[in-house]
Amino acid sequence: MDAILPTTQTDKLIDKFGRQVTYVRISVTDRCDFRCVYCMSEEMAFLPREQVLTLEEITRLSKAFVEMGVSKIRITGGEPLVRKDIVNMLADVAKLDGLDELVITTNGSQLVKLAQPLKKAGVKRINISLDSLDAEKFRKVTRVGELENVLQGIQAAKKAGFERIKLNAVILKNRNHDEVLDLVQYAMKEGLDISFIEEMPLGTIESHSREEAYYSSDEIKRDIEQQFELVPSTKNTGGPARYYNVGGYDNLVGFISPHSHNFCDTCNRVRVTASGSLLLCLGQEHSMDLKRVLRANPTDLNKVKQALVDSMDIKPKGHDFDLTEQPVIFRHMSVTGG
Ligand code: GTP
Ligand code: 5AD
Ligand code: SF4
Repeated sequence: MDAILPTTQTDKLIDKFGRQVTYVRISVTDRCDFRCVYCMSEEMAFLPREQVLTLEEITRLSKAFVEMGVSKIRITGGEPLVRKDIVNMLADVAKLDGLDELVITTNGSQLVKLAQPLKKAGVKRINISLDSLDAEKFRKVTRVGELENVLQGIQAAKKAGFERIKLNAVILKNRNHDEVLDLVQYAMKEGLDISFIEEMPLGTIESHSREEAYYSSDEIKRDIEQQFELVPSTKNTGGPARYYNVGGYDNLVGFISPHSHNFCDTCNRVRVTASGSLLLCLGQEHSMDLKRVLRANPTDLNKVKQALVDSMDIKPKGHDFDLTEQPVIFRHMSVTGG
């Protein structure tokens, strides 16, 4: 049994800048059944199994985070739903006392079969990547994905009755920037929220120049305003998106703009990679090896909690993304978990 934390130890995760970590994104695998051009290079080497945290380790780690004041856990990947037995693990994490929200980000490929089991396991909200509504373009962006399967997955998620479903679209100039309006129309018709994301320079990719493909949130907003009225909303999911109400609809359009509207000042989150490395910022290399701590202390959760407290000393102030330079962050998004 894990020992109880001494009362003298701090019970919150607060960094040097006074920001409290309440949101953790955990990548459960670096593998994926898609190969999105902005996320992966065509040939990727994946982690050997022994280097990936076991589902039991992820559950223990989640418990440590929740006991330190984390109220929201987002499970990511790679594609989290390609990991075997993931639904059972989610059910265990969802039961943790003090966790308000267990949420997941997926590419939608497994939802036809898994939407209902996920809902039953206690997953509250679900974010689904959808960059195009044109089967051929969808295939080009994902290299292997099938649009129809994902659209059916979205229907399965709607039927399963999640609290909210949000689409995520990474917009690249001259690839899918002309689909912004179609995507908003689709989201509104289906009663879904949608976030548009500026591409981030994580890892080396060969398919395009990130600088040349940059399409800013302001340009996307301008495109949407050709047809829809956007009114700033006060909604805050604890994530980085700035939301707008769309005239005449109940759903929201969000913008995640790491380049044009940096949101680091209010950062409330950390990430855990599939190999158990704690990343203190998406855009920096500052990290701590939690896998080592978890494996060295299989029955003492206090050691894990202490490591989390210690890590707060190295949480950097923010990222320094620069699209004109070679990437300074060599990890691909599939390793980091978005
Ligand atoms: P909500 O809980 O719905 O607000 O989710 P979210 O937007 O936090 O999560 P999601 O997994 O849908 O991520 C959408 C995009 O936001 C991804 O491209 C993430 O990489 C990006 N993102 C999330 N957190 C951060 C962050 O701290 N910094 C940066 N630069 N991007 C982030
Ligand atoms: N820049 C921005 N978003 C990215 N995603 C994957 N790679 C990148 C990148 N380089 C998005 C996915 C998914 C979310 C978790 O991150 O499309 O919606
Ligand atoms: Fe897979 Fe998501 Fe990366 Fe696409 S963005 S390759 S779906 S992990």
